[in-house]
Parts: sequence; structure tokens; C-alpha cells
Amino acid sequence: MSASDDNRTSLDPREALRWASHQLETSGIDSHARDGRILLRHVLDCTEEQLAGGNVAPLLPAQVAALRGLIKRRRQGEPIAYIVGKKEFMALEFAVDRRVLIPRPETELLVEKALDLFACDGEDDRVPQESPRLNEVSRPLIADIGTGSGAIAVSIAKYLPHAIVYATDIASEALAVARKNAAAHGVAERLVLLQGSYLQALPQAVHMVVCNPPYIPQGEIPGLDRDVREFEPRIALTGGSDGLDAYRRLFAELPASLLPGGIGLFEIGFDMAAPLRKLAARRLPGAHCEVFQDLAGFDRILQVSQVAPTGRSE
Ligand SMILES: C[S@@+](CC[C@H](N)C(=O)[O-])C[C@H]1O[C@@H](n2cnc3c(N)ncnc32)[C@H](O)[C@@H]1O
Repeated sequence: MSASDDNRTSLDPREALRWASHQLETSGIDSHARDGRILLRHVLDCTEEQLAGGNVAPLLPAQVAALRGLIKRRRQGEPIAYIVGKKEFMALEFAVDRRVLIPRPETELLVEKALDLFACDGEDDRVPQESPRLNEVSRPLIADIGTGSGAIAVSIAKYLPHAIVYATDIASEALAVARKNAAAHGVAERLVLLQGSYLQALPQAVHMVVCNPPYIPQGEIPGLDRDVREFEPRIALTGGSDGLDAYRRLFAELPASLLPGGIGLFEIGFDMAAPLRKLAARRLPGAHCEVFQDLAGFDRILQVSQVAPTGRSE
């Protein structure tokens, strides 16, 4: 596709696809073929089936110009999810932009663990489970701390239709995105958005605290992929010098924020299980810690139970 092609009457989608993929490949983008298809589908507003089946009309000049613009953004390193403005998580579509972290597939494990503990398999069906306490709660109160796009909170509210979910974030701009997603998925009435630092914004103690906090050590930020380093909100990434700052706060605030028998579920870095067990032993004496691995076999979730409640000070 040459510079003058924008003025042609139309462009064959297969030619557009070849051009898009080539442009991305020459910028060193490994996923060039996949990204090219996603961006073309976005411009054409069509499904993968329609594109693969050759079932789409040629691109109009305005669509060619739009595709050029999107390819340029991707070549500059902007993540695909921000360019198309959406990301799938827990089989739900979430609006995302640069105000929020792009939800990661591994974070689905956090939601699945939460749903399991309330005996829900993610499809609204009840399934038998061994730990009886939480699944006997008729109105679960769940808090998602550092909600970002609301991916965790909205998924839990969607798949646990009897739950009330508090979703907090320190960033008001992130809460605006979460609000949009809660409305889009019809859970806004059961999802309470609160601005504040970690557990401080909660109006009451809850049965479960879930949190995917910022946990990247400050010194590792320069080595992150450009997509992440230059585009995702720094406040969503940095966990202080050792990556554990957020957990220090969360563990300190947890006893006053959990109802008796309540559980904390935290996403963790692959190498954080040992230091976090130690931290929990100091800050949450008597609590029981369990670590779960993701599909790649990395430690990913820390579950904290038997936390001695201290009651709330208000
Ligand atoms: C790793 S992101 C997680 C976003 C989302 N929950 C997800 O999993 O996709 C961390 C989030 O914590 C928020 N955050 C950072 N510091 C915070 C604080 N002190 N209190 C509450 N939220 C905070 C950030 O704004 C960001 O939205």
C-alpha cells in the first residue's frame, strides 16, 4: 500500500492485511500477524469469521486512513487493548484506556478462586465444595482493592449475583473506567465504587478481600516491555523498592476489614511467596497462608485465612 492509496476508491481486505502485518513486522512487533488482523477487524467492525471467510467489503478510503492511524500507534508501542479500547477478561468485554491497567489473563485465577470459595463455577451454577463457610453466606460482601478497570469486581458481581461488591482505587480516573464497565455489565446496583487508599475506603468489614496490587519492584520498571513501561499507569505497577509495599499496607489493614472467617486473596509476583509468608507471619500472627500456581506453574495467588479480626475503629 503506497502513500497515494488513501485516495483510491477501495482496498481489498487481504491486501490491507498483508500491508498491516508487514508494517508491524518491520517495527519488530512479534505478534504482527495477529495484531494486524485485530486492527483490521476493528476498522471494518467485523468478526474473525467474517474476515477469515473473505466475507467483508473492500476498505473505503476513510477506513484505509483509520487503519494507517492505528498501525502507527501500534508501531509506537501502544498496546492493542488501548488502541481498540477493550480487553476480554473472564469471558466478559471490558472497556480499557490509558487510565487503567490492562487486565491480565493470569488475574482470572484470582477471580476463579474467589468464585470457588463462594461455590460458584463462573457460570452462575452452584457446585459442591469442601470449605462450607463462605458458601453458606446468603449475601456475600466482597471488596476488590485497586480495582482499575473493574475487571475483578465486575466479574465477581456478574458471576455471583447475590454478592455486594465494593471496588476501591486511589485513582479517580480509574474509578471512572470501572463505573463504565459496571454499567455495561448490568452490575452497577451491586457494585459500590469508592476512592481511597487500600482498605481505608471500605465502609464495613467484608467476607472477602481480593486484590491485585501494584507489585513490580521499582528497579525492574526500566526493564519492562515498552508497551507496559510507557503506556500503563505507573501507579498500577510500582510496589516500592522490593515490590511488597502494598502487601505491607494490606496485611496491616486486613484484620479490621474482614468479618470473622473472612478470607484475603492476593495476586503475587512469581518470587514473592516466601517473603509474603514471612510478612504474614509477622503482621497476621496465627493466620493460615496458602499459595496457588497459575497455568504456567508460577506462584500467583496467596490466600490468607484465619485472620484474627480486630474490629473496626470507626
Ligand atoms: C495492578 S493494578 C490492578 C488493576 C485491576 N484490579 C486488575 O487486576 O486489572 C493496581 C491498581 O491499584 C491501584 N492503586 C495503587 N495504589 C493504590 C492505593 N494506595 N490504594 C488503592 N488502590 C491503589 C492502581 O490505581 C491500580 O488501579
